[in-house]
Amino acid sequence: MLGSVLSLWVLALTGLTVHGQITPPSALNLRITQNMTHAISPTLYGYMWEDINHSGDGGLYAELLQNRAFQSVIPKTGAALQGWQSVSGAFLTVTAGTSGVSSALPNSLQVSIPRTAKGPIGFANTGYWGINVQAGWTYTGSLYMKAPNYGGSVTVALASASGTVYDSATLYGISDTYKQYTFTFSPKTSAPDYNNLFTVTVDGASAAGETLYFGMFSLFPPTFRGRQNGLRMDLAQALFDTSPKLWRFPGGNNLEGHTWQERWKWNETIGPIENRPGRVGDWGYPNTDGLGLMEYLDWIEDLEAAPILGVWAGLSIGNYSDLPDWPTVPENELQPYVDDVINEIHFITDPEYSSEWANLRAEYGHPAPYNLTYIEVGNEDQFGPDSYQAYRWQMFVDGINASFPNLGLQFLATTPPSVALNPAYLKIDFHQYATPGWFYNASSMFDTYPRNGTQWFMGEYAVTGTEVGCELGTPSCGRLLYPTLEGACAEAAFMTGMERNSDVVFASAYAPSLQNINSVQWTPDIITFNAGRAVKSVSYYNQQQQLFATNLGTHVLATVPEPNPTTTPLYWVASHQATNNLVFLKVVNTGSADLVGNLFFDFPVVGGFGTAQQLSAGLYPIPGVYNISNTLEVPNAITPVASSFAIVDSNMFNYTFPQSSITVMTFAVDF
Ligand code: AHR
Repeated sequence: MLGSVLSLWVLALTGLTVHGQITPPSALNLRITQNMTHAISPTLYGYMWEDINHSGDGGLYAELLQNRAFQSVIPKTGAALQGWQSVSGAFLTVTAGTSGVSSALPNSLQVSIPRTAKGPIGFANTGYWGINVQAGWTYTGSLYMKAPNYGGSVTVALASASGTVYDSATLYGISDTYKQYTFTFSPKTSAPDYNNLFTVTVDGASAAGETLYFGMFSLFPPTFRGRQNGLRMDLAQALFDTSPKLWRFPGGNNLEGHTWQERWKWNETIGPIENRPGRVGDWGYPNTDGLGLMEYLDWIEDLEAAPILGVWAGLSIGNYSDLPDWPTVPENELQPYVDDVINEIHFITDPEYSSEWANLRAEYGHPAPYNLTYIEVGNEDQFGPDSYQAYRWQMFVDGINASFPNLGLQFLATTPPSVALNPAYLKIDFHQYATPGWFYNASSMFDTYPRNGTQWFMGEYAVTGTEVGCELGTPSCGRLLYPTLEGACAEAAFMTGMERNSDVVFASAYAPSLQNINSVQWTPDIITFNAGRAVKSVSYYNQQQQLFATNLGTHVLATVPEPNPTTTPLYWVASHQATNNLVFLKVVNTGSADLVGNLFFDFPVVGGFGTAQQLSAGLYPIPGVYNISNTLEVPNAITPVASSFAIVDSNMFNYTFPQSSITVMTFAVDF
């Protein structure tokens, strides 16, 4: 939420004025030169990640059962049964009154079978607002159970809410101590919808009057790349397809906790899932931490990206109306938290079998060290700048550097850029949630950024609303529910500025990433999903697939003119990719009229043609409407359209950039 706080600062720094206007039908004469101004940061486009909107549990983490181990719930409450329901009148309660599955998981599901029971009776899990049942998939399940006086069988099944059983298994050998039971389901038919259940039943006549206990359930569909405890295939694939080069995790606010005790604790997210207690997340629901430190790092390896590891820096989130009172660790109590991060970095980076941390990592399946360069100290510490400046930043940076003098670690600060730090920061994370106007006006903010060795991470940004002052408000005052074409164009205009200045902007990330439509705490998000379907937003297409991130040059090319206040509402950046000798020209029209570009190239275009990927309102039936979104109901309102065009004379080539559009042109060149 740094955005509104820093907006004024940024506008003051850059001296921005209201943008000018190319008045149609006048055309822009634009010359693309061979002059390479600077290298483009290869890490320019990536993701910011945290569990918000059930993006992790119930999202990217492929576990199908909600509240699988009753973590971070209060026993004997209705809320503790989130995701669970009785079948045929069994009485359910969550209890800590019997020994749990492990010391980390003290809570159990207590199931009491009435004395009058007959027929199948038990309970069901509703999944994360449904379960995706697909023929041809093998589902891998497990549960722990015990019963003091019942020795009969237990039936588990994947079934529709109306009773169609897709597959089932029978478990035998229940005793009075917890044991794990495993099973698989292989449905022969796909369910027509996601209104399906995982059921656990016993024969009522045999179990009448008995009590059974259950804990740590799990049910996984096939996962991305078949990883155990892995990721949901369609969501992981959508993220993977965008070739992100950075992955910042584990938050965001979800790193910080509402109290120190509730912070994200790396060592409670590793190893067998039975050892992970989970935590009260920052976004209103418990986190299982099944998607833990090593699952993140494995995923980042799959992406061939670099991690930006957020480390808790002694500040938890309090009430926004009471910033000075946010829980901050005093200087004389901070060292254990620094040591904890040092242990985390040992665990991640120590050479194979070289320490107890490396041995533990090997025991958990990854003997080789993980790659780690970037450490982000805290999150949005503008909310605690005094203590950050006085001791928190320094204790973490100096303490970590002293322990890892040869790792080449780079640290990101999270206070406003104007806050001087000791040691001086070299990288800073800046967040902005704002209106379309803010973003296109700020497209030039890095043009004048001092080249003094510091670099920016635009670590969270998005067009979130249409009204100034209500960017993080409600839909009634313009808050977006989904990214819109208008918003994506403004973001793209801003991105041309980041890319044109990627000697100082080393990375960026739209945020947040995912929203489960059934549990939304923050809008808009780049991908929306339910139990089985995912929708890519306009911003997703703009940011990543087929447009900005996947068409990244190695050097920026100078243009004449460069974008300036008289050339709005067109914004652009040109680049050269040395590997394949390609030139990319990214042009954004944020205006409401089509605009012509007369393009001149200072080099031969090979083959006499170019190609383009474009997002625009295109054939959308209502002209002049730009608040168009892709939703679960209308998933493809705006998708990239590919075209190719002849270039008869590379000395002059006309192209019309439609109203509210983003165009990425590619030319094979010879220089
Ligand atoms: O992206 C949502 C939240 O916005 C993040 O958790 C926090 O860092 C920012 O304020």
